[in-house]
Amino acid sequence: MSSLPRPALAVIGGSGFYDFFDHDAVHVEIDTPYGAPSAPVAVGEVEGRAVAFLPRHGKQHEFAPHTLPYQANMWALRSLGVRRVFAPCAVGSLRADWGPGTVAVPDQLVDRTSGRPQTYFDGGGVHVSFADPYCDDLRAAAVKSAGELRVEDSGTMVVVQGPRFSTRAESRWFAGQGWDLVNMTGHPEAVLARELEMCYAAVALVTDLDAGLEEGDGVHAVDVFAEFKKNLGPFKELMRRAVTAVDGTDTCDRCRVHAGVSLPFELP
Ligand code: ADE
Repeated sequence: MSSLPRPALAVIGGSGFYDFFDHDAVHVEIDTPYGAPSAPVAVGEVEGRAVAFLPRHGKQHEFAPHTLPYQANMWALRSLGVRRVFAPCAVGSLRADWGPGTVAVPDQLVDRTSGRPQTYFDGGGVHVSFADPYCDDLRAAAVKSAGELRVEDSGTMVVVQGPRFSTRAESRWFAGQGWDLVNMTGHPEAVLARELEMCYAAVALVTDLDAGLEEGDGVHAVDVFAEFKKNLGPFKELMRRAVTAVDGTDTCDRCRVHAGVSLPFELP
């Protein structure tokens, strides 16, 4: 690639996505008012479209879910020109009928994290609408791109603080609330995207039945990583199809939440 195209679409996910591009990507170092993002942002092409990729946990998986630079990550993407973000992630399932290998595209989120900065607007006066945390267009693109993978077009994802997995009692409580999926990174990523007026959708690959359901000795990280790896090929193909299945130019009208509000700073 001779000059860097502006990527309006991005994927933020595991470092296994680096070879997601058609050709070698360019790696862009970015500084933000919130520090450096997890890693340089890779900008490459998928079927002729400029797409950015940020490895959420860093190049060597050096950031735990509770230490991720969420504000810097989303700011860095926006400052490159990104307006629509797909967020593939690994999740535990809270229901026996959504087993490992299922892709769920959640439509709701419950925040059970604590102590993570989750806004750019500390000064007061800006309160974004978050009733529907995910972009419908991106969700629809992900669902129709599932290919060989089993896909569920709904679900409530509870985001826990981690880095530990849940106890059986917590897991049963989550399921009892009617929640479907559990994860450690989906928040505050989603709300920071909304504050920056970027469309955002989580695309969740089930790697395990969470502790309340599984009958062994609990969820173990090695098994979660191994299961994720097993489905990484088709999951990456899903994401490649999804980024070409949406209008890749701008934020949709529903995810523009600052209309009529005077912001204390310009969005990057
Ligand atoms: N990510 C993958 N599996 C998980 C689980 N069971 N709980 C929280 N985060 C997860």
